Amino acid sequence: MKTQVCIIGGGPSGLMLSQLLHLKGIDTIVLEKHTRDYVLGRIRAGVLEHGFAKLMREAQCGERMDTEGQIHEGFNISDNGVLHRVDLHKYSGGNSVVVYGQTELTRDLYDAREKLNGMVLHEVDDVVLHGLDSGSPSVTFSRGGNSERIECDYVIGADGFHGVSRKSIPADVLREYERVYPFGWLGVLSRTPPVDSELIYARHERGFALCSLRSNVLSRYYIQVPLTDTVEDWPDDVFWDELKRRLPGDVAARMQTGPSIEKSIAALRSFVAEPMRYGRLFLAGDAAHIVPPTGARGLNSAASDIYYLYHAMVAHYQQGDDQGLEEYSGKALARVWKAQRFSWWLTSLLHRYPEMSAYDLKLQQTELDYLFSSDNALSSLAENYVGLPF
Ligand code: APR
Ligand code: PHB
Repeated sequence: MKTQVCIIGGGPSGLMLSQLLHLKGIDTIVLEKHTRDYVLGRIRAGVLEHGFAKLMREAQCGERMDTEGQIHEGFNISDNGVLHRVDLHKYSGGNSVVVYGQTELTRDLYDAREKLNGMVLHEVDDVVLHGLDSGSPSVTFSRGGNSERIECDYVIGADGFHGVSRKSIPADVLREYERVYPFGWLGVLSRTPPVDSELIYARHERGFALCSLRSNVLSRYYIQVPLTDTVEDWPDDVFWDELKRRLPGDVAARMQTGPSIEKSIAALRSFVAEPMRYGRLFLAGDAAHIVPPTGARGLNSAASDIYYLYHAMVAHYQQGDDQGLEEYSGKALARVWKAQRFSWWLTSLLHRYPEMSAYDLKLQQTELDYLFSSDNALSSLAENYVGLPF
């Protein structure tokens, strides 16, 4: 097979780029390891920054997001039972975020690809990237017992943290930066009305908690747990009791509980790989960087990668201008690191670390007190939460 851009990974990053390039007449093939149902079965976060929402519309995939997604102009931080509202709209100069599940967004992208007869090959195995430092790269893989090969101009590594693309960059070129946090998030999805119309991030002496939502009838809640815990340690009633303990009394009192329809524990990790380009390979999204979920930056870090790559590819194919491709890694990483900083900061501000001293706790408390006493600090939080420009 032959294509212009071969995209490894059919997650939000790969599908979005494929869709945007297709609309500009650039041919792509997406290679995805799993079935569509498997990809759509993964429960992921649900906050989109306005820049990503704009990209969805540009990709002609924004219709359902705009009708079913909720615009949020603020969120709340509970500090040991006391609720403070962060007015995103006021402090970010009129911006907001869209609450729309990443699973739904991925479904919209798949539907859009299908409508345009975009080529997405599922259940591919043994993906190997060849000739990345030559002028004619190729990708080999197996599918349904057959060995296949795609010749292309460029390869996009959008195959997530565990993908093969990043690992195809020689070890003496690649530099990895990582921080692993000493706790995880236990997440529960339940078919109950959300406890609040806005998100509540809770700092509490028993540990962090988060009340989020997918719709008016679907809630997503998280609590900080030790990494040694398993979901078996958290039957539903134990989970609800613990969540309520970490929230303000009136919020806990109005919490509607019900059976969990999904329950999982995720480790928290910060990770960046540099450079994001090697020859004809360009990394995007989770393949190159991940953040702890606290700042809702996961998908939003991917958004700027996709935006830069999209424009760079269009400039290359339509004007023969390679400046965007040359500058991609540096430009993408500059924004990636800002999202890393913000996610690390919000994580540090709200979680209870096992090794925290009395001094550390005082500093954490002061940081929060300062935040709610300073318009400048709130503006900084808001501009990062709604998404820095790209
Ligand atoms: N070959 C082909 N596909 C692969 C391979 C491989 N060797 N390895 C992984 N994949 C696929 C995965 O099955 C997955 O569907 O690549 C896709 C990568 O998708 P994501 O992990 O969702 O990464 P990305 O598209 O960059 O999305 C970023 O997802 O995890 C969240 O927080 C993250 O919100 C962010 C978003
Ligand atoms: C979610 O809804 O899953 C969610 C929301 C905000 C976050 C993290 C996760 O910061």
